[in-house]
Amino acid sequence: MKVLITGGAGFIGQRSAQLLLKQGHQVTVLDNLGPPAHDGPPALPAGIDLVEGDVRKREDWVKALKDNEVVLHLADHHDYLPSFSKLFHVNAVGTGILFELLLDGKTSVRRVVLGSSTAVYGEGKYRCGKDGDVYPHPRSVEALERGTWEPPCPLCGGAVSPMVTDESVTRPTSAYGLSKLAQEDLLKLVAERQRMEWVILRYGAVQGRPQPFQNAYYGALRIFALRAAHDQPPVLLEDGKQLRDFIDVEDVARANLSALGDLPVGTYNVASGRAHTVMDLARTLVRVADRELVPETPGLFRVGDARHAVPDVSRLKAAGWEAQVGLEAMARAYWQWLQEQPGLDTFFEGAEHVMARTGTVRMSR
Ligand SMILES: NC(=O)c1ccc[n+]([C@@H]2O[C@H](COP(=O)([O-])OP(=O)(O)OC[C@H]3O[C@@H](n4cnc5c(N)ncnc54)[C@H](O)[C@@H]3O)[C@@H](O)[C@H]2O)c1
Repeated sequence: MKVLITGGAGFIGQRSAQLLLKQGHQVTVLDNLGPPAHDGPPALPAGIDLVEGDVRKREDWVKALKDNEVVLHLADHHDYLPSFSKLFHVNAVGTGILFELLLDGKTSVRRVVLGSSTAVYGEGKYRCGKDGDVYPHPRSVEALERGTWEPPCPLCGGAVSPMVTDESVTRPTSAYGLSKLAQEDLLKLVAERQRMEWVILRYGAVQGRPQPFQNAYYGALRIFALRAAHDQPPVLLEDGKQLRDFIDVEDVARANLSALGDLPVGTYNVASGRAHTVMDLARTLVRVADRELVPETPGLFRVGDARHAVPDVSRLKAAGWEAQVGLEAMARAYWQWLQEQPGLDTFFEGAEHVMARTGTVRMSR
């Protein structure tokens, strides 16, 4: 297979490229190698054809598309900071240019796989004792400032319990989620019209090596590990009881490979199928790091975060894929890898200052 991976020099892209090369496929990467994902040349696997370029530039897409048959579109801008216009320029406009070129009919592309995110679900699915299955509204800043973490039922205002969220209902609560949904909708619209094969993969919270440190606003394992390496306890947002599905990047790379091959057209959640609290992850990291550190929950919160995010993975499982790496193995491998990395001090302080300055992370009263 001849595969173009956009964003192929990034965290998920590199691991996917390695797997594809190992299986004998030809890989081209289109990546601008820019900040915040990179602060120098990335260590790309040998055998990759790198096109250094930008998905916002038509001529760079033309150079990269060549005679590739499938596109794994991962290049994106993702941020908790208010870089709204960049989110839409890179994610929505970049995807728009790809489709303009595909509609010209001068490419060999027959399948497009989009790396999307469970951020498109916003708060996701809950069960209310009175109203049944409901999809809560984004939590208000006032509620978060009071330290009220659980969302109420959008109909009766009563208590609700989190459920696994299947692929059917999308309600993003962040600009990033909106930009990913724009990519998804455009892909479906154009691909169906042109009878082109399409797959949307909505990844959960992807962790593992080599998740870089430059963009240390997200990636709970990375942030906790970086703090532990400096003998600092993990600092958790809210009360640490948020449910998440942490998935290892190796499992995501396997899902990508299957989507590039014969996975039926459609939208799939990609997650481990196991819910853990963020506190579980912090304690697991402290244990594998063998440190005497007690995770802290000072009452910080990040505007736009979902309270719980547990995707339903039954659709992808029914197609034959299943996650293989568990939480402890994921944390152990990341911790071991982190020990070997130079320059950890450089990345330690910066991110927290930026988050506080821009009001992205705030303190409840
Ligand atoms: N990592 C996660 O937890 C996670 C979760 C859900 C979804 N995703 C999705 O997976 C995809 C890959 O994410 P990642 O974690 O590997 O991120 P990453 O930042 O490590 O990789 C993204 C790559 O895209 C490149 N890029 C950014 N802007 C570009 C542009 N304008 N032109 C060309 N290249 C550009 C970057 O240089 C980088 O190499 C993204 O689409 C993201 O939305 C990731």
